[in-house]
Amino acid sequence: MSAALVTGAASGIGEAIATALAAAGTRVAVAGIDAAGAREVAGRIGGVAVTMAVSDLDSVATAVKQATDALGTISVLVNNAGVIGGVDPLAALPYEALTTVLRVNVGGTFLVTQAVAGGMIAAGKGGAIVKLSSAGAFQPTPGLGHYEASKAPINALTRSAALELAPCGIRVNAIAPGPVETPLTGLALADPQAREAWLSRIPTRHIATPADLVPIVLLLVSPARGTSPARSCRSTVANS
Ligand SMILES: NC(=O)c1ccc[n+]([C@@H]2O[C@H](COP(=O)([O-])OP(=O)(O)OC[C@H]3O[C@@H](n4cnc5c(N)ncnc54)[C@H](O)[C@@H]3O)[C@@H](O)[C@H]2O)c1
Repeated sequence: MSAALVTGAASGIGEAIATALAAAGTRVAVAGIDAAGAREVAGRIGGVAVTMAVSDLDSVATAVKQATDALGTISVLVNNAGVIGGVDPLAALPYEALTTVLRVNVGGTFLVTQAVAGGMIAAGKGGAIVKLSSAGAFQPTPGLGHYEASKAPINALTRSAALELAPCGIRVNAIAPGPVETPLTGLALADPQAREAWLSRIPTRHIATPADLVPIVLLLVSPARGTSPARSCRSTVANS
């Protein structure tokens, strides 16, 4: 049975992925910045809760160690935690909104990948990493320039990590959903005009639910797609 760590798993897409992984027989570390929320989800799905602020180096190191001590080497990582930083036209955007999304979405994805990939490499059994990008990284929406500027780098990180880690038998992919009904988008989608603006750009006029994303994530982390772990793997990941 493999072990997975899902960041931002106390709500929305992360909660749905953690729940599905547990139902599929994976041992799951439910990582949340909010300890109570992580405990609640972990209790419900039979996982282990760890408190993790993804952009804080010490918090990431402690939580990854706790998860590994409890579950064994993490072979599946879902870099899901993220923030939107408000919806503001560029001219009115507080600089803090940009620095926050870069710190959490880019910095957090980087730090957690680095911490977990180090363990995967040391164990030599391969693994799978899925990152949450966004359709906004490809198709802009007014008012979300800062958020989109924090999602495009995730595509670049995914490609470079995939190249570096493939020789270690670790597959790295990203998914880039359009709008999904979650706490992140709750306020924006509750406004009928904003909702219609989103719907008008979606040919199926379907705003996704977290459950819609689960099958693709399960496919991407499935051992059935497995890459054989390389016989020798030398990675440039710093803490490997
Ligand atoms: N909802 C959408 O329309 C949509 C579309 C494309 C991509 N995404 C991405 O999906 C991911 C999940 O978002 P969601 O829609 O489920 O929203 P959500 O708000 O339910 O989930 C985000 C989670 O990240 C956590 N988080 C925030 N800051 C954190 C930090 N510093 N450290 C650790 N955890 C932190 C939150 O506590 C929350 O549990 C995000 O990366 C988001 O950018 C969402």
